[in-house]
Formats: sequence, C-alpha cells, structure tokens
Amino acid sequence: MPKLIIDTIAVEVPEGTNVLEAARSVGIVIPHFCWHPALGKAGACRVCAVKILEGTPKGVQMSCMLPAQDGMVVSTGDEEAVALRRSVIEWLMINHPHDCPVCDEGGECQLQDFTIAGGHSIRRYDGRKRTYINQYLGPYIEHEMNRCIQCYRCARFYQEYAGGTDFGTMGRAAMIYFGRQQDGQLESPFSGNLVDICPTGVFTDKTARFRARYWDYDMAPSVCPHCSLGCNTIPAARYRELLKVMARRNDAINGWFICDRGRFSNAAVNTPERPRQPLVDGQEVDWNKALDTLAERLQKFLEIHGPESLAIVGSPRMSMEGNIMAARLRDFLKAGTLSYFEDTELNRRTLEATGRLTRDTSASLADVRGADLVAIIGCDPSEQSPMMALAIRQAWRKGARVFRVESGRSEAGDTGISPLYESSHADSVASLPLAEAARPVLICGTNEAGLEALQITPPAKFAFLLNGPNAFGCAELAAEQGAASLAEALAAGTIKGVVAFETDLADDLPDNIQVLATADWRATALVERAEIVLPTTAWVEMDGTFINNEGRAQRFKQVMHPGLPIKGLTPELHPPHGFRKTAPGSEPTPAWQWIELLMSRMGAQSLDAPLSGHWERLKQLDPEQGGLSVLHERN
Ligand code: FES
Repeated sequence: MPKLIIDTIAVEVPEGTNVLEAARSVGIVIPHFCWHPALGKAGACRVCAVKILEGTPKGVQMSCMLPAQDGMVVSTGDEEAVALRRSVIEWLMINHPHDCPVCDEGGECQLQDFTIAGGHSIRRYDGRKRTYINQYLGPYIEHEMNRCIQCYRCARFYQEYAGGTDFGTMGRAAMIYFGRQQDGQLESPFSGNLVDICPTGVFTDKTARFRARYWDYDMAPSVCPHCSLGCNTIPAARYRELLKVMARRNDAINGWFICDRGRFSNAAVNTPERPRQPLVDGQEVDWNKALDTLAERLQKFLEIHGPESLAIVGSPRMSMEGNIMAARLRDFLKAGTLSYFEDTELNRRTLEATGRLTRDTSASLADVRGADLVAIIGCDPSEQSPMMALAIRQAWRKGARVFRVESGRSEAGDTGISPLYESSHADSVASLPLAEAARPVLICGTNEAGLEALQITPPAKFAFLLNGPNAFGCAELAAEQGAASLAEALAAGTIKGVVAFETDLADDLPDNIQVLATADWRATALVERAEIVLPTTAWVEMDGTFINNEGRAQRFKQVMHPGLPIKGLTPELHPPHGFRKTAPGSEPTPAWQWIELLMSRMGAQSLDAPLSGHWERLKQLDPEQGGLSVLHERN
C-alpha cells in the first residue's frame, strides 16, 4: 500500500491506485474529464495536471496516468500545474459554445464546473468555432456535438464497457466525431448512460430536455422497480411529474450505470389516466367514503361467505411495508388465503430458490463482475435483467469463461456470440468445468433448471433472476406467513372474494370471483374490474423497502408528492377549475397506509408500524449505505 503526500495530506491507497484517485480518497478534487472510475484512464483531456515534487517522474504530470507511489509528494496547487490546467480549459473552450446560461446541461455539466472553478471567463480566440451537424439518435438521447471536448468517455463506455457496435469515434485530428454511421436510434440497451457519463452536454435526456434546471429537481435516492436486481437510481421530478431517472452509484450492485429500461420506462407514473381518485362502483368518491364502503362490504362478505372465502393478495412489485401489512390484514380478517405469487409453480420455485441461498452462496452483481466462470442457466439476462448481462460482459472482458447451459442443443450452428460477450454451450450443469474456476457464478431463472443448479456445492455462487423488484421479500414473507399461490387457492374452489394490492392478476380471474377491492397506482385490468379502487403512490411518491434478488434490502425515498402533472392534461382530463386545499390527483396513499386505515376503520386497535417485530432491523436502513442483507442469519 503506497503512502504519499498530496497537498500536505498523508494518503495511503491500494497498489495500482492513480494519483487522481488517491487525491479523491481524501477529498481533493483534481479536474478531470476523460478519467472515470468505471472506465479508467485515457489521458485524452490533459486537464488533470499536478506537479510531482518528490518521486518519479518529477514535474507536471497527468494525475490520472500516474500510479501513486511510496514516498511521492504531490502538489495540486503548484503554479505550473494550475497554469497548464487553465490553458487546457481555455483550449477546450475555443470550440465549445459559451452559452452556459441557456444550455440545457447547465447546472449538471462537469465542463461548466471546472471552467468556472478554473477562472476562465474571457474568450481570447476570435476565430470561427468548429461546428458539427448533429444526428438523430432516437427518442431518448439528444445529440449536440458542438459541445464535445473529445474525452472519448462516450465511445469507451458504449463500445468497450457496454459492447455496443452502432456508435463510435469517427473523423480524425481536430474533426473527431462521436456518433453513428447514419441517423438512427441507438441500439444498445444501455445507451442512456451516455447522458450520465458525458462530462458536457453532448448527450442529454431528450425526454426531460428543457423541463427544469438541475437545481429545480426534486431528487432522492431510489431503487429501480423494473426488475429484481435493485439497481440504485436518482429519479428527478418537478411539478408533480417524474422527469428523468439517473444512475446512482452502488459498487455492490449496478456500479455507476443503469439500463435503458430503468431509465426510460417511467411514463406510467405521469400518465393522467392512472388511478388517482378512490372509486366505488366506478364512481369517484372521497377516501373516507371509499374506506367506509369497503369496510361495510367486507363485513357483509365475511358474514355471508365466511373468512375462509376471502383472499388477500400482495405482490412482488409492492414494497415490503405493503406486503407485511397485507399479511396483517389477512390475520385481522382471518382470511382463508394470503398470496404473494399468482402462479403455483412460480410461488414454489421462488421460495425454494431464495430459501436455499445463504450469505456465502448468494451472488451480487459485483460478484458476477468479478467471476472467472459464469454459467447462464434457464434464463435470458439481456431480456430479463439487462444489468446482469452487462455484469457478465465485465467478467468476460476480464477473461471469465461464459457458458450457456441448455440441454438438447448441439454446438453445431451455435456461434455462441452475444453482442455483449462470447459464450460456449454446455449440456448440463454437471458438464461445467467448475473445478477449474476460483470464483464461479451460476445465473439462474426461477425454473427447474435453475433449482437443479442449486445442488452444486460451494464455492459456486448463485444469482437468480426473479419476477419483480420485491420478489425476494415476498418469498421471505410467503415462507414466514404460510402464503400459498393464488392459483392454488382458486383451484381449491373456496375463494369467492379478493382484495388485492398492486397486483397484476391475470385478466382471466374466474367470473364468479368477486373482486371486492384493489389498491394500485397502475391502470391494470383488475382496477377496471374491482368494485372499490384505492389509488396508491408509485415508488417515487413514498418511502419504502425492496429486497433484491440477492437478498439485499434497500430503502427508497420519496422523490415527489403525488398529483396530476400539468403536462399532458387535455381539456377532458383537466380537473374542474376552482379553489381546493390540495393539489388535484394528490389522493394516492402508500398501499400499507390504506391497509392500516382500513384495519382501524374495522376496529383494529394499536397497529404496529409495518417494519416491526421480525422486520424491525430494516427500519434504520439508510438508502445511501448500500443496503442490508436479510441472509445474515443463514450460513
Ligand atoms: Fe487525466 Fe483526462 S483526466 S488526462
């Protein structure tokens, strides 16, 4: 571990750390554009100059290119280094537009920050600026090449890190161009990361362009709800509208990036048509009336049919808080069925897979990135959880062997080439060369093939791709509460009524089943069918907890208040004009709170907070601290 001195501060860093990172580790910011923690160094921008006073090589050096060495003495404020950094910024700004006040990247632009910090304010060059013609890159990414400072981060990320082939570096010398051969939508499922990774505004999020300045956003640490991996995000909202989603660093899970599904699939939050007002028999009512009616009808239902005829249904897309309260509602009403998974086989397999994972055998995405052998068993990571495929690619780039385990397929005609990594075919888990690997990870679907793979003895680790952001949490609760699949309960023929929470039940729920109520923020088929609808908050409108596929509980925080966004309101959808105390459409309430309100209305006394008892340990979860494994008791 080299020990060095940077600006009189003693620093000790792991072998291989560069001077720029060493300085960052003690809070000293050296300007940089091309270096990125996930991409490494390129030495392209020349703005990270520092002076080496002791050690070799001496003099002004690029801190991103220089490994920290024992005994080194570094000055970031040396006159010569500062002068060089100032010159580099001035050169970069020769061709860059001087339009920060009106630029849509203003406020979230690294070039703006370092230009202002370095004191460059007067443009001395009076020649013509170099200009480019921008490309159409699809509906999500805006291209503005005049802002480019040739740091190569975009091409390095897109091609090397993410395996994209339709975007890259073109041109030469002073006319380098980053784009596609021709206009067209970017093909990589990770293209949105260009927005985060570009240190200026060459690539911006088209879906949020000119809607707000960075300092106007409502933001909070959050967790992606679009698959089971639990990638960390920062959603940004303004005026009751979710504008965009950015990646949030979590080295154990998503690293610095997220996939385009997580970034661009959030229109359902903003749609004026989503359930925003309680409904009773299709009529809008206030929440008091809705709860009174539900309490009455439930009472009547229980008297006529008996509690065993009632099913309370939770869901892998609902928070832990909601699902815990669903179990309490079952207990309170003595309902015959509690269900978290609709499908019987999925219920069984998810419980079995998650139930057998331990802290030693459950693989994080970081474990996948660091694996030396990856086997894909009965699942399609690119389709189900793209960030898993990106993690496999990083392992493959470092030399890991990747196998697809598919019985009954011959090698002939199988190229084994994925856009992200090369893989070989294996007939069975038994045929994998696991003994030759030091850090093997098996990536499994929740199917028989995946469960069979669990027979492998450690040191293999497992990563299951589950169905929903809180599928692991639902499996834990199902085991704890003795929940059955809904299909199983329906097949037994006893269920006559359903109360469901944030559930995508199949449209073919039998006609003789009375859907007494549903609580949801999505306009599902069940919302259409239910007698009573309680609008719930989307994940960005509440605090909550998801447990990801590896058993890591993570807290997401409220980003925005629920309410009808102003954008997209047609005259038909516009609420009546008039004075009101609350914003229109602000009735949605977290599902767990609806349950609590319903239970107190029906006579429940002294309700505990959702995260109490066995789940009390999740109460203090800090969204910035990387999460907490619920497998800590299992070894
Ligand atoms: Fe060091 Fe660009 S950050 S040369």
